[in-house]
Amino acid sequence: MANKITVQKGTKDILPADIDSWHFLEETANRVFTASAFSEIRTPIFEATELFARGVGDTTDIVNKEMYTFEKSERSLTLRPENTAGVVRSYIENGMHRLPAPVKLWYKGPMFRYERPQAGRQRQFHQVGVEMFGISQPQGDVEIISLAVNYLKAIGLKDLDVEINTLGCPKCREEYKTKLKEVLKPYLNDLCEDCQRRYEKNPLRLLDCKVEDCKSIYEKPEVKEVITSDFVCPECHEHFEKVKEYLNLLDIKYTVNKLLVRGLDYYNRTVFEIKSNNLGSQNAVCGGGRYDSLVKNLGGEDTPAVGFAMGMERLISLLPEQKHKKTDAYVVSDNVNEAIKLVNYLRNVGISTDYDMTCKKFTKQLEKASKVANYAVILGEDEIKQGKVSVKNLINSVQVLVNRDELGNIIERF
Ligand code: HAM
Repeated sequence: MANKITVQKGTKDILPADIDSWHFLEETANRVFTASAFSEIRTPIFEATELFARGVGDTTDIVNKEMYTFEKSERSLTLRPENTAGVVRSYIENGMHRLPAPVKLWYKGPMFRYERPQAGRQRQFHQVGVEMFGISQPQGDVEIISLAVNYLKAIGLKDLDVEINTLGCPKCREEYKTKLKEVLKPYLNDLCEDCQRRYEKNPLRLLDCKVEDCKSIYEKPEVKEVITSDFVCPECHEHFEKVKEYLNLLDIKYTVNKLLVRGLDYYNRTVFEIKSNNLGSQNAVCGGGRYDSLVKNLGGEDTPAVGFAMGMERLISLLPEQKHKKTDAYVVSDNVNEAIKLVNYLRNVGISTDYDMTCKKFTKQLEKASKVANYAVILGEDEIKQGKVSVKNLINSVQVLVNRDELGNIIERF
């Protein structure tokens, strides 16, 4: 026998048994996001590598270690590790700044990151997300955070923690970075290798480190004092106060986490994550925030923006298991010609229907019907003579003899 080829590490097949949960997440996304006036956008799975280097930031782990990059016709291309950069590229390229603001877009689809796979972390995973362009006011941040909360509610997830923070603007952040570096300098040799690199290139990212030794340094009183200080300028302070005020108004519970800095470089002011206690170490189901410089940095007009993305695999692992839906009807008959015609009729009136294409015995066909369908539509000799069909409800075994054109009313679609 030839060698079997297996699925790649960190990737998974989504099998028919699980597909109903995926449809549920996608259909609810369409409904909830449309209700907030967002429209769906679909951008390509691969983009120019430079888009992510400039967009996500070349000091991030995503760009430094995790990209699936390949060459084609002397071009460097990358499978998208996230979709904010791609949506921004499309916004600019398609002149969407000429549309009335805000431009509100949502998306779903696969993302690719070369990470060490573990529970809740894959190399190919799926996100559902939104991006909104053209609103600099704190109402924009709250529009996005409340949309995330509403979506999670709509799919039935409760007991999630909303964490927010402000990263200030490039101006106030520079001072904060300097202070952070100063206070951490004596501990430089105790930091993990990644943090030592981050210290020079992007000191804010130090706060996001999951290594225990690093985390214990951030607990030291003089370090903690800098971290918890209200470093932002009066404008950024006022913006964050308003965000909190509007969240309170909507009764959205949140905590301010001063260590929340996010792993992508494009953020300013408000950042947020939504976490679950039932997910182990990879506990964030949603991450997002404001990114007011990205459109300009990628060659567009100066346009404020804010968005989020959620990991769909993580959402699914929190949902109760959905049973795979059965087919509505299964046609049972020894008369192939009549069976083929009836199957075609039922499908065309919108009843999902299947039948036995291998001419098994009548009783075998009935057995199969009870396994795969909610109704057996029986076409025996008597029925054919009378020009009628029998419909058997396979849940309560009630059987009735009816005209073919009554089937659409009798068969309940689940
Ligand atoms: P992110 O925090 O990198 O943000 O990813 C968002 C969510 O995607 C995470 O909270 C997590 O649920 C899921 N996720 C990330 N990596 C993996 C993985 N390897 N396996 C499974 N799930 C994963 C972004 O991607 C930003 N683009 C979000 C955003 C949109 N910010 C503004 N707009």
